[in-house]
Amino acid sequence: MANYDVKDMKQAEGGRRRIEWAEREMPVLRMIKERFAKERPLAGVRVSACLHVTTETANLMKTLQVGGADVMLTASNPLSTQDDVAASLVTHDEMPVFAVKGEDNTTYYKHIHAVLDHKPQFTMDDGADLVSVLHKERRELLPEVIGGTEETTTGVIRLRAMAADKALNYPIIAVNDALTKHFFDNRYGTGQSTIDGIVRATNILLSGKTFVVAGYGWCGRGLASRARGMGANVIVTEVDPMKALEAVMDGYRVMPMMEAAVIGDIFVTLTGDLNVIDSHHMLAMKDGALVANSGHFNAEINIPALEAMAKNKRLVRQFVEEYQLANGKRIFILGEGRLINLAAAEGHPASVMDMSFANQALSLEYMVKHAAELEKRVYSVPEDIDKEIARLKLAAMGVQIDTLTEEQVKYLNSWESGT
Ligand SMILES: NC(=O)c1ccc[n+]([C@@H]2O[C@H](COP(=O)([O-])OP(=O)(O)OC[C@H]3O[C@@H](n4cnc5c(N)ncnc54)[C@H](O)[C@@H]3O)[C@@H](O)[C@H]2O)c1
Repeated sequence: MANYDVKDMKQAEGGRRRIEWAEREMPVLRMIKERFAKERPLAGVRVSACLHVTTETANLMKTLQVGGADVMLTASNPLSTQDDVAASLVTHDEMPVFAVKGEDNTTYYKHIHAVLDHKPQFTMDDGADLVSVLHKERRELLPEVIGGTEETTTGVIRLRAMAADKALNYPIIAVNDALTKHFFDNRYGTGQSTIDGIVRATNILLSGKTFVVAGYGWCGRGLASRARGMGANVIVTEVDPMKALEAVMDGYRVMPMMEAAVIGDIFVTLTGDLNVIDSHHMLAMKDGALVANSGHFNAEINIPALEAMAKNKRLVRQFVEEYQLANGKRIFILGEGRLINLAAAEGHPASVMDMSFANQALSLEYMVKHAAELEKRVYSVPEDIDKEIARLKLAAMGVQIDTLTEEQVKYLNSWESGT
């Protein structure tokens, strides 16, 4: 294979314009890029990245390159690649990119192997597929790998499981753990862009629909509040009593999926779990129910079972597949059950990825400086990096806040004063 695999190089110019558009909304990453250009903290380090190939990711990759890194990029999902962005990175930044929207699973893994051929010293992953292939199939490369970063909840869970099994061979920073990541990206980013994906795929009116959100974690909270804002009647399903209680107190109806299945018009899973919508749920759904996933893997919906149950399947519009069941009802699966915000829309808005990717850039810089001192486990983003990103974001938004007076510092650190 040549040192890239993208769909169509003729799309490069359009990709460049969209990458520049995203950069306007990424002031924190821009500031980091300016500093990296001067200090070159990543000079000469080989980085293999497995991320959704979007305009925002392009700005992160360019920041790492300006900082001196030798970067290769592959997609972290077969349906999330923006082909114009991939073409622009190859053409304008001479970056080896291996990503084609709609690639099959074999190509997806071939592309992961291609960026591993780069012999990475650092990995930057989203969902832990890169790290998993590296540990399972390319162990000969492990001695040269110094450290890594991981973007999302599902990846962090997989890596923590690897570390617990003593199977993780190098330290990894969980970018998702940063408050400036999951408070904003998972909640506001996923909330808005999941609605965007559903609406772009279907053009349905949300107002008045019964909208079922499976999982009331960071992503689910964001989606539920935005669906309600669009006028939908929102039902939440959960397995965690605390999250379920929070959803009840936030004003949503909470019930088991089996009950919600009968009354829902639109279903979205955001749990990081398996078969959250299973065959018995789909059999109970109303004719014409829409089913989508915005969690990391499409395993949240039992699509193999649906395939087995369906009499017929046809694509009724882009990203909408109709499954005709033997009971006469039709189920519509959006975006093949892959993250709908990336499959049918453009993923999170740049303004929120600004903070997530600032965490990625600064965590990689931290790794380059400190990996040798770290153990083979998953670390949180250092608190000072997290706070600095919040400070820079507020400054970029022109928002000022108060500072503690000396008297207040003393008061907050004392125990003597009472009523
Ligand atoms: N679409 C995107 O762009 C995007 C962005 C960020 C994260 N993610 C992914 O979304 C998923 C959720 O992330 P999060 O940060 O909200 O995680 P989280 O851990 O905060 O929340 C997940 C919630 O799902 C619940 N849950 C688990 N199994 C369930 C089940 N069977 N039924 C109902 N609820 C169940 C858990 O109790 C938890 O409250 C992960 O896979 C993550 O990687 C996607």
